[in-house]
Amino acid sequence: MQTVRDLSDLRAAVAAFRADGARVAFVPTMGALHAGHIALVEAAKRPGTKVVASIFVNPKQFGPNEDLARYPRREAADSRMLVEAGCDLLWLPPVEVMYPEGYATNISVSGVTEGLDGAARPGHFDGVATVVAKLFNQVGPDAAYFGEKDYQQLQVIRRLVADLNFPIEIVGVPTQRDDDGLALSSRNIYLDEEERTKAVALPRALGVAARAIARGTLPADVIAEAQNSLVAAGFAVDYVALVDAETLAEEPAPDRPRRLLAAAKMGQTRLIDNIAVTLD
Ligand code: PAJ
Repeated sequence: MQTVRDLSDLRAAVAAFRADGARVAFVPTMGALHAGHIALVEAAKRPGTKVVASIFVNPKQFGPNEDLARYPRREAADSRMLVEAGCDLLWLPPVEVMYPEGYATNISVSGVTEGLDGAARPGHFDGVATVVAKLFNQVGPDAAYFGEKDYQQLQVIRRLVADLNFPIEIVGVPTQRDDDGLALSSRNIYLDEEERTKAVALPRALGVAARAIARGTLPADVIAEAQNSLVAAGFAVDYVALVDAETLAEEPAPDRPRRLLAAAKMGQTRLIDNIAVTLD
């Protein structure tokens, strides 16, 4: 795996892949990699494809009271994991390359960003859309891979790419989970042992609720029950919401694909998760 920190080196490396006839697949990350990120690399790997990953802890997507300063940074371990997963190129942009002095352009996606995490984290999705647009322009991939774990983010990226005509296929990858069902997240390391044990209530509550809604129980009742069970487990609930799986509009028609999303705090750690509402 080649590692580059300079934009002209990145462009030369990608041009060399293309000169060999390769398709270029891209996996953007903020590092502190775990099996969820590696699943994206695995999904991106195909014969004739070169996989480019990036690690950049993007200051623009963190709120003033969020965890930018203490966000885990583990470049050497991340790099080893990417080599093992078969990643071909690692892009590590310095902050001065991403946001040089005088930087003044921001991308704001409306609609899908407005509720849920967009409401809870003002400016967050503008920061995500801006950095992802820049990364897309830097790497110039044919396809880019994002986790369903960050479901609203995935829909924001789909909107961004459609609206700004990025010639990039966006692929969503199912959420990777620990054995007990907790979604893998770089932030799980903030949980102490007791909090980690209690955190399993989040995927459990979502699973129970999604099945009940699929069976026809009134969503408002199911959501209230899910919130109660999360509080009983020790969570401070931010939201539990049933939304249209594409537009993220609330109160979706039952014949539309639907998704149940939740955010809740266990101690100081804010966790998110989501699940499809299907009869299976
Ligand atoms: P980060 O949180 O590092 O996540 C990078 C990618 O890994 C995202 O697409 C995310 O959805 C995916 N991912 C994280 N945990 C996952 C899991 N348990 N299963 C499957 N996929 C998982 O998301 C970001 O970084 C940033 O917002 C970024 C897109 C890089 C822009 O800065």
